[in-house]
Amino acid sequence: MIALQDVSKTFRASGRDIVAVAPTTLDIGNGQSFGLIGSSGAGKSTLLRLINRLEEPTGGRVLVDGVDITALGPKDLRHARRLLGMVFQSFNLLANRTVLENVTFPLEIAGQSRTAARRRALECLDHVHLADRADDYPAQLSGGQKQRVAIARAIAPKPSALLCDEPTSALDPQTTESVLDTLLRINRDLGVTLVTVTHSMDVVRKLCDAVAVMENGHVIERIDLRDRPAVATSNLARRLLESAAAPAAPLFRELAHV
Ligand SMILES: Nc1ncnc2c1ncn2[C@@H]1O[C@H](COP(=O)(O)OP(=O)(O)OP(=O)(O)O)[C@@H](O)[C@H]1O
Ligand SMILES: [Mg+2]
Repeated sequence: MIALQDVSKTFRASGRDIVAVAPTTLDIGNGQSFGLIGSSGAGKSTLLRLINRLEEPTGGRVLVDGVDITALGPKDLRHARRLLGMVFQSFNLLANRTVLENVTFPLEIAGQSRTAARRRALECLDHVHLADRADDYPAQLSGGQKQRVAIARAIAPKPSALLCDEPTSALDPQTTESVLDTLLRINRDLGVTLVTVTHSMDVVRKLCDAVAVMENGHVIERIDLRDRPAVATSNLARRLLESAAAPAAPLFRELAHV
């Protein structure tokens, strides 16, 4: 379980304070696939990065499986971060390492032997259906394949959750499908919790079983999408539920206009 307790983040830039995330309390259950939506600048990425302390919180606490992440020193934090894999919009693969070496990288840093790291990496590549590309370099792969390598790398240390910041925003709709299928299998088959920031209603509909709506640094609404009929108060959430009720409607552009 990921428990945010009054967690907040204020940036100081050019002599003024920017409240990126106001004090926020939110629980994300183990095995859940949780979405974070909201307009640009609402604070979604900052909130996601507070979970693994890529951003230092200004206040509040973050508990992951009962461990207070905010109270840890550097060594314990590095250890705890293995519970929290991260997937970025821009893949962040190492260009001069093969696909296999990209996936073994975090395992080697964690002190695993080459043999153990290789075995685990191949297992993860198999999981994202890319074991046959192990010896290729990232430049030889399509965008969707690169993202699946990044997902394999993220699950290699056996995290309990994956934090995904717009994982499909750089991809075309068809490639997006393959990446979402991969994430769904990781959630359903491996029980890994997903927290996904997205601008796409399609991604939410396909991937998430609950969603939080952010606006100006505040979580203004949280909806369980498995509840039928779910009730929405914010415009964004209302549109999400309407689109879910009418799956043939064109959804992909909706959030871009918010
Ligand atoms: N390092 C930083 N320094 C100063 N301000 C920042 C920093 N990072 C984010 N912000 C500000 O915090 C607010 C929230 O930013 P954040 O990136 O979390 O939004 P977002 O919801 O992810 O937006 P987008 O959908 O465009 O990615 C914005 O006003 C942004 O300008
Ligand atoms: Mg963002």
